[in-house]
Amino acid sequence: MKIGIVGVGAMGGAIVSRLLQHTWKSQTDFQLVICELDLHKRQQFEDYDCVVATDKISNLNNCDMVIVAVKPKAVADVLTHIAGLDISIVVSIAAGISIAELTKISNKPVARVMPNTPCKIGEGISAVAFSEDVQAEERNKVKQLFAVLGEIVEVEERLFPVVTALSGCGPAYVYLMIEALIDAGCAHGLMRDTAKKLIVTTFIGSAKLLQESSLHPAVLKDQVTSPQGVTVQALHVLEQKGLRGILWDAVNQAVNSTKE
Ligand SMILES: NC(=O)c1ccc[n+]([C@@H]2O[C@H](COP(=O)([O-])OP(=O)(O)OC[C@H]3O[C@@H](n4cnc5c(N)ncnc54)[C@H](OP(=O)(O)O)[C@@H]3O)[C@@H](O)[C@H]2O)c1
Repeated sequence: MKIGIVGVGAMGGAIVSRLLQHTWKSQTDFQLVICELDLHKRQQFEDYDCVVATDKISNLNNCDMVIVAVKPKAVADVLTHIAGLDISIVVSIAAGISIAELTKISNKPVARVMPNTPCKIGEGISAVAFSEDVQAEERNKVKQLFAVLGEIVEVEERLFPVVTALSGCGPAYVYLMIEALIDAGCAHGLMRDTAKKLIVTTFIGSAKLLQESSLHPAVLKDQVTSPQGVTVQALHVLEQKGLRGILWDAVNQAVNSTKE
């Protein structure tokens, strides 16, 4: 399989890093054509035998699949160049650009995917939607590729704004909360490394417990919250300052922004 990718910045770079870690790269017919304008970003992947690095979109000709991972404002230009090439399916990960727009410019069957940065270590989640003309074989190829990067969910395209606001942007919300909690731990005398270990492990462990349990998050929260205990005092502050409303408003803002 010959896969092309345009743009190996934050998200495209995360996707390529994971694909190159995975056993796929040892398959003899796996080839990755990386098209990136920035020389330094391009060079970081050049040493792999299966990689061809270029700054010319024309070198993506005859790829089975091309992932477009440039900023939304650069997508139309990239797709205009792709339109003249022989490519089975184009996969766009750009926020806010519809399948109708992608198909119109590229003149190709299209998949729209919203991944997130934990894809870099195979712990991401990607939402996927397809244009109607994508055949079952192509759909499976796209799903198989993104399954290497983590979980996948197929959703109706109309839900992409909220998917973007939740899981696409989500790592940033999580890192902001982790950073704030580490600072709070340092303020009370913990070394930064120790505070980081305590908080990161707490996030991972709590998320895994929720994932593996059939219980509502509120029930798991109650298990930490004894009457007149310490946790309930902290929760009182979070509720009083409106943490739930803040998170909800943040998602609303992101949804509106991706629609615009
Ligand atoms: N970052 C995330 O967490 C995330 C999550 C989900 C989806 N996305 C989507 O992923 C896309 C990329 O976002 P990003 O954050 O990875 O952006 P980024 O870090 O700016 O990476 C984009 C890269 O593409 C290069 N590029 C631009 N035009 C090109 C062209 N014509 N040919 C080859 N390379 C070109 C850019 O080079 P220059 O810098 O030299 O222009 C840059 O290195 C966006 O559409 C975004 O909506 C991002």
